[in-house]
Amino acid sequence: MWSHDMEMKNIRVRLTPSTRTSYAIQIKSGLLVSLPATLASAYRGRRIFIITDANVAAYYASRFHRRIVQEGAETVLLEVAPGELSKSHAVVHALHTKLLAYGVRRDSVVMAIGGGVVGDLAGYVAATILRGISYVHIPTTLLAQVDSSVGGKVGINHARGKNLIGAFHQPDGVFIDPDVLHTLPAVEFRNGLAEGVKIAAALDGGFFEYLERSSFALRKGNTRLLSQVIHTAVGLKAGVVSRDEREQGLRKVLNLGHTLGHAVESATGYAIPHGYAIAAGMAAEAKIAVDMGFLRSKEYRRLVTVLQTLRLPTRLPGSLNRKTFLGALNVDKKAEGGGTRFVLLKSIGESMIGVDVPQNLIEAVL
Ligand SMILES: NC(=O)c1ccc[n+]([C@@H]2O[C@H](COP(=O)([O-])OP(=O)(O)OC[C@H]3O[C@@H](n4cnc5c(N)ncnc54)[C@H](O)[C@@H]3O)[C@@H](O)[C@H]2O)c1
Ligand SMILES: [Zn+2]
Repeated sequence: MWSHDMEMKNIRVRLTPSTRTSYAIQIKSGLLVSLPATLASAYRGRRIFIITDANVAAYYASRFHRRIVQEGAETVLLEVAPGELSKSHAVVHALHTKLLAYGVRRDSVVMAIGGGVVGDLAGYVAATILRGISYVHIPTTLLAQVDSSVGGKVGINHARGKNLIGAFHQPDGVFIDPDVLHTLPAVEFRNGLAEGVKIAAALDGGFFEYLERSSFALRKGNTRLLSQVIHTAVGLKAGVVSRDEREQGLRKVLNLGHTLGHAVESATGYAIPHGYAIAAGMAAEAKIAVDMGFLRSKEYRRLVTVLQTLRLPTRLPGSLNRKTFLGALNVDKKAEGGGTRFVLLKSIGESMIGVDVPQNLIEAVL
């Protein structure tokens, strides 16, 4: 399973309770070139709102917009500023206003071209305008390709914390072209690798071994290996989402590294990129798992080695303010409904959810 060649890959996310029963995720090198014609024809007669950020517009989205217009689509291109700050009420309000001004209808469609920020934001706009319209995501960062574009979680941030306002709104389709990753800055690339390691460590020992074997080549951006990683990660995540769309149980495993990671992000004012924070969070949580007697220290070292090879941090930042950090951990705790909720590794590829971690062990990793 881990070595076969990549051409076009299709993965289907099957959902039981939602209004839509399934949607397709396509992964193919060069997909972005043929996509304007495909989507113009699929959405013929329906107004399309492309939402992107200024960086992605310059690289891909403006060209995509020109091409889809040439294909006869009725399309508006809307650009937001790059970065996490765009996941805000103010930007959502501005986009709602634009969509209404351009005559959005129940059959209109929002197309997100960009990373996780654009996907979460545009998906939330699509989920809320006119009580929900169709949404398509064309993820352009590795993080969005391996993780955030799959699963239907959309939303924005609140002054009190990240992703506190949102919805579950599944896309009509997700279209992944690994070729766009060649323009991605190195930091963003590593962000995505961190989520890939998370998915492997939490769910699949075989995939983790594949990452161990190929971490050097992956770090250098080997496209064939990357395509394989995206395909495997998406398949694993789609499997989890199909079984637990609303995160009532199993889906929580995907929060591996995120309990401490989110607290690091919050306590440092989001100065540390998400993937770096969750890499450090994963390593620290694995240390806790060792201390609690769940995980063998040999497995902990395997995790640390992969993260180090991928040039990701494996320790919580030394500059962390203890009080702010523990306070941030508490906010997460409250949002979860009391109790400390950790996802801890039992072994590489196998994790437990909802583990109560004693305060002294949390303080010990600080
Ligand atoms: N919905 C989910 O399930 C889920 C899961 C994980 C993360 N997220 C969210 O995803 C967000 C992070 O996403 P991200 O890491 O993709 O960040 P991002 O969307 O901010 O993209 C990172 C940077 O890369 C630029 N960029 C994007 N594609 C590019 C390309 N191909 N070439 C060059 N530059 C490009 C962007 O303009 C931006 O400056 C966070 O807000 C996080 O909360 C959501
Ligand atoms: Zn994450």
